Amino acid sequence: MAARCDVVVLISGSGSNLQALIDSTTGCDHPARICAVVSNRADAFGLERARRAGIETRVLDHKAYADREAFDAALIEVIDAFSPHLVVLAGFMRILTPGFVRHYQGRLLNIHPSLLPKYKGLHTHQRALEAGDTEHGCSVHFVTEELDGGPLVVQAVIPVQSDDTPESLAQRVHVQEHRIYPLAMRWFAEDRLRLTPTGAELDGQELPASGQQLRN
Ligand code: GRF
Repeated sequence: MAARCDVVVLISGSGSNLQALIDSTTGCDHPARICAVVSNRADAFGLERARRAGIETRVLDHKAYADREAFDAALIEVIDAFSPHLVVLAGFMRILTPGFVRHYQGRLLNIHPSLLPKYKGLHTHQRALEAGDTEHGCSVHFVTEELDGGPLVVQAVIPVQSDDTPESLAQRVHVQEHRIYPLAMRWFAEDRLRLTPTGAELDGQELPASGQQLRN
């Protein structure tokens, strides 16, 4: 890894995870630098967060492209203009093509609001409540061609309370997302985290299938 790890963050919305990543890098000596934020929506509030932090922004409207392949090819061009070491998906609400995922293999991270492999896809908090789960949480993982399916890096686990609603759970899970995403980005930037043919490795040790678990 170069002395500094340049990161491009992809968003579609509010960007609270982006904010947590930005906040974690401000201050001296952080090994990562967010060099650009790219959104597929011009009205994503995360763009405003990036501008306030003096980070370059780009908007690429997926509706302007004929198909996923064309959009992803354009997206690769925009991202690669910044030559990032790492690409971070932070609420980027697009399904990526296999070609895109392969292009960034080993340097593409995502955060998902469930304890993967449970509840891939949407409405994770509702589904955890409906299933009567006693624990819920969020996961950071390397992105592979399987949706929400790549090797896990870190999970935060929280207890589900008897009076929880999807909204209250979402709120508590979000707090944890803002804790584990900066952590995973830092590990990567410090060259401690890597994708191997069999999973994810931290400090030369294969991580368990659940990634490193932080309990609350
Ligand atoms: C988060 O819940 C994240 O897990 C999911 O999308 C949401 C983005 O939230 N992938 P925000 O835009 O970072 O606030």
